[in-house]
Amino acid sequence: MEIFRTKSVEQSIRDTEDPEHQLKRRLSATDLTVFGIGVIVGTGIFVLTGRVARETAGPAVALSFVVAAIVCGLAALCYAEFASTIPVAGSAYTFSFATLGEFPAWIIGWDLMLEMALAGAVVAVGWSGYFNSLMNTIGVNLPSVEVFNLSVNYPAMVIVAILTVVLTLGIKLSSRVNLTIVVVKVAVIILVIVAGLFFIDAANFTPFIPAPKPTPAVQGLAAPLIQVLFGITPVAYGVIGIFSAAAIVFFAFIGFDIVATAAEETINPQRDLPRGIIGSLAICTFLYVAVSLVVVGMQPYQQLSEDAPLADAFRAVGQPWIASLISIGAIAGLTTVVMILMLGQTRVLFAMCRDGLLPRGLAKVHPRFGTPALITVIVGIVTMLLSGFISLGALAELVNIGTLFAFVVVSIGVIILRRTHPELHRAFRAPLVPLLPILSVLACLYLMLNLPVETWLRFFIWLIIGVVVYFAYGYRHSTVIGWRSGTPDQPRP
Ligand code: ALA
Repeated sequence: MEIFRTKSVEQSIRDTEDPEHQLKRRLSATDLTVFGIGVIVGTGIFVLTGRVARETAGPAVALSFVVAAIVCGLAALCYAEFASTIPVAGSAYTFSFATLGEFPAWIIGWDLMLEMALAGAVVAVGWSGYFNSLMNTIGVNLPSVEVFNLSVNYPAMVIVAILTVVLTLGIKLSSRVNLTIVVVKVAVIILVIVAGLFFIDAANFTPFIPAPKPTPAVQGLAAPLIQVLFGITPVAYGVIGIFSAAAIVFFAFIGFDIVATAAEETINPQRDLPRGIIGSLAICTFLYVAVSLVVVGMQPYQQLSEDAPLADAFRAVGQPWIASLISIGAIAGLTTVVMILMLGQTRVLFAMCRDGLLPRGLAKVHPRFGTPALITVIVGIVTMLLSGFISLGALAELVNIGTLFAFVVVSIGVIILRRTHPELHRAFRAPLVPLLPILSVLACLYLMLNLPVETWLRFFIWLIIGVVVYFAYGYRHSTVIGWRSGTPDQPRP
């Protein structure tokens, strides 16, 4: 069918050579790894660890991080193969255009918008929470502002505005800002691990996996789909709790996939993208497992704080100055997360506009800055509005389902591309294909099933809107038709 027409790999790569729509190649493997860590380490470890340990997994939250890391590791190998074969901006969107066709690619692009725009806003709100708390500590109480009876989260809006300017001015500047902040963030995480070791009380580790019990937090639409489907009484804790928690702390790993969106800005993408993706994921997994073990060892899991668990664990053991340092690190860390989520969002939109699925004029690269300036400003404004006016706490789960869905499609895509284009040069080959991608699909689906019913409903609504937009605009304006008739840019009659 026409809507499943694929975009050839050669065409995808040729598109990147069009001078009007060309990004500058400036990033190395180290830049990419730093980028990865910059976007991965954020709200997941700094905020969600506490909530999940309290409500869902107990001290076994460390195991939830391991489960989520395994799922991500499988998907990361598939992403790495794809990114080394088709080093073109757009990540999962571009990969699915080459394998599954235009309509599935649109759905994935639409899905990635959900992932990144929402995640950027969620993390900006988290950032402002830490910022407020640090201001309170030094005695400054920020006034609250209301517009039409809605309270405005203006610190979140200001940080998004500043980051939009940084991103518009150029990626090299962005990656330098990122490098500085990533160093601070990792130093703070290592501080938590090393200093925390001295305050561990072994009694807090027993029971390591608390006995399962029904709790109000997992009733009704909030119950994980898997428990509803199989008629299991929804419970928290126990082995089931470890998996439900994994579906939530999965948020902590989101971002390694975004490294792939910087493909066109990488000097040697075939070699360096797999290194950047897998390297950043491996480093973060190590840090997360260590941090979560230390934190649940410092305080009984029922007492962990929900807003700032790492900092508050140190406050609880009488070390407020370490707590303040951690808050500063968290603020710095969350800044880079928001920035790179926005960067990834601009690159996916860029790829979609260049293909005509959204207005092509938006994808012009700024002559001086070398960045898709117009798209960056649009993404900045949308993220600002979302973060300023909407309370997005529970929507982290919506981000997760969207991301897991993209992982499923990318994993299937690897199998398809091996069949349809066995001849393509793959600088990185995922091992054990098709077994590994199949395991990746199953693992992602399993985590998705562990997400609440309401998250599934919201996800379907978003996809339905996407289908409507595709048939109203993208289907008519796709440039694929133009290539076939030899006249690019020609809209459908
Ligand atoms: N992984 C990112 C975070 O935890 C999105 O904030």
